[in-house]
Amino acid sequence: MNDASPGWPVHGAALTSWVRLWPPAASAQAGTVDGIFVALLVFCGAIFLLVVGLLVVFSIRYRRGSRAKRGMLPEVLTRDIEIGWYAVVTFLAVFMFGWAGATQLTLDAPPPGALEIHVVAKQWMWKAEHPNGAREINELHIPRGEPVRLVMTSQDVIHSFFVPAFRRKQDVLPGRFTEMWFTPTEEGEFHLLCAEFCGTSHARMGGRVVVMAPEAYAAWVAAQPQGDTLARQGEALFNAYGCSGCHATSSSVHAPRLAGLYGRPVQLADGRTVRADDAYLRDSILQPRRDVVAGFQPIMPSFAGVIDDGELQAIIAYLRSLRPEEAR
Ligand code: CUA
Repeated sequence: MNDASPGWPVHGAALTSWVRLWPPAASAQAGTVDGIFVALLVFCGAIFLLVVGLLVVFSIRYRRGSRAKRGMLPEVLTRDIEIGWYAVVTFLAVFMFGWAGATQLTLDAPPPGALEIHVVAKQWMWKAEHPNGAREINELHIPRGEPVRLVMTSQDVIHSFFVPAFRRKQDVLPGRFTEMWFTPTEEGEFHLLCAEFCGTSHARMGGRVVVMAPEAYAAWVAAQPQGDTLARQGEALFNAYGCSGCHATSSSVHAPRLAGLYGRPVQLADGRTVRADDAYLRDSILQPRRDVVAGFQPIMPSFAGVIDDGELQAIIAYLRSLRPEEAR
């Protein structure tokens, strides 16, 4: 790291550090995003220069009183120019769309087994919780070289989780889970920002992402005061809110069993099939009448306004942790 630049850490990136226009590229995804940005800049710059260049040339050449030849171009020539121009511009637009779209699809699909960290945003701080229950505020410690998946929600207004060095940004909304993933490639400290105006102290809602060697991360996590892990908290809430009263195997109430449910397709009463992901579980807790499972009656009460977003995350972590053989 360059000690002379406490602001943006620069990692020997000679090409991008000559002016501090560009943050360091510290994730496996950053290169592609930069590539798309540069390509767009070059395309737009070339068209801009062409248009401005012709404007200047024509202004001088065809100024009032000049002897330049005037009148219509031969029709064949105008037609060829027109067709060529549309063909080139259409090709460029479709190419950019395909490239950016394909990139976005991979950026939206976290690899299986990514390190999952839960993030809750609130005015005006970022709270993170690691798989073993270690928590931190306005800091995010992660290991280098490992895919990291953030599952995020907000307790109040819309925020946006932004790490320029990773070239990743994702809105964080109240009442919904959003996800983002990346693979950090460089050790060091990087800015963590909120990129959505969220009130008086929006500008101060930030901190740092600390990328550590995998062994250093393991040591760091182990040294944190261990809270109850999220799933254990979720289990306590699952019992406290009475969910287990109906969803336990021993219950006399006819309710869907939840062990092994996470990630599997669910057949609904109206014929649709949905995937039991975070969003589905959350909706089923808050709006149980919306997606009734085939073969069951809509008898579950809504927990909207009863269970808050942090508790929902914990309960869903618990449901996810249930293996089919642990049916309870
Ligand atoms: Cu949170 Cu801006």
